[in-house]
Amino acid sequence: MSGNSAHNMSLKLKIWRQKNSKDEGKMVDYTLDGVSPDMSFLEMMDTLNTKLVKEQGDSIAFDHDCREGICGMCSMMINGQAHGPEALTTTCQLHMRKFKNGDTIVIEPWRAKAFPVVKDLMVNRGAFDEIMAAGGYVNVNTGNAVDANAILIGQENAELAMDAAACIGCGACVASCKNASAMLFVSAKISQLALLPQGQVEAESRAIAMVEKMDELGFGNCTNEAECEAQCPKGIKLENIARMNRAVTKGLFSGR
Ligand code: FES
Repeated sequence: MSGNSAHNMSLKLKIWRQKNSKDEGKMVDYTLDGVSPDMSFLEMMDTLNTKLVKEQGDSIAFDHDCREGICGMCSMMINGQAHGPEALTTTCQLHMRKFKNGDTIVIEPWRAKAFPVVKDLMVNRGAFDEIMAAGGYVNVNTGNAVDANAILIGQENAELAMDAAACIGCGACVASCKNASAMLFVSAKISQLALLPQGQVEAESRAIAMVEKMDELGFGNCTNEAECEAQCPKGIKLENIARMNRAVTKGLFSGR
């Protein structure tokens, strides 16, 4: 992890500190030396926290779990970009070689009314779980488990469903949207089911329930800025939003 010390960097870090959801919060400046270009961004944060604990006993709270780009926990706004400067990359998979010696890095939490800050860089993304719960279960009686190959699914739909299912629910779409819209997330979750036969039966009623819950929880609407698609670490496409809107419109007209 340490790499070649000759190439180690010194960084200036401006990090959002906030004691709890009621606290106003503020940016605090730190300097960190000896940062190896081979460190991941979170290893850099670990190094800073080790230093802070030694010096003042107060580490910076941030979310992480898998550190493999799978769980979607590592939500950080880095220099104004969700998950930092590298496309299709989560914060945990971002490496310090993307930065230069002497750089100033601004690190903030996701900012959206529906994602209240818990502490420092940690936000509560429980609203996403509520939207998922509003979608309900797939109620089709499938009987005994059948061989997956027995249900014929066209190649194109199979691929599109898998692409939508790549969403890790990190919330970068919300954080990067000026309206704090959750439409890319919701549409990916709707699409991964609606594109497959088992999910089609309730596709429209599910879409309506999830969109209503999204509105109720305070997420904004889509005004086609496309920042969500640009910042999504999993490459979720805007066409999912079009699919979702079609399902909602169809459902509303047919009274489902
Ligand atoms: S820590 Fe799991 S995706 Fe980053």
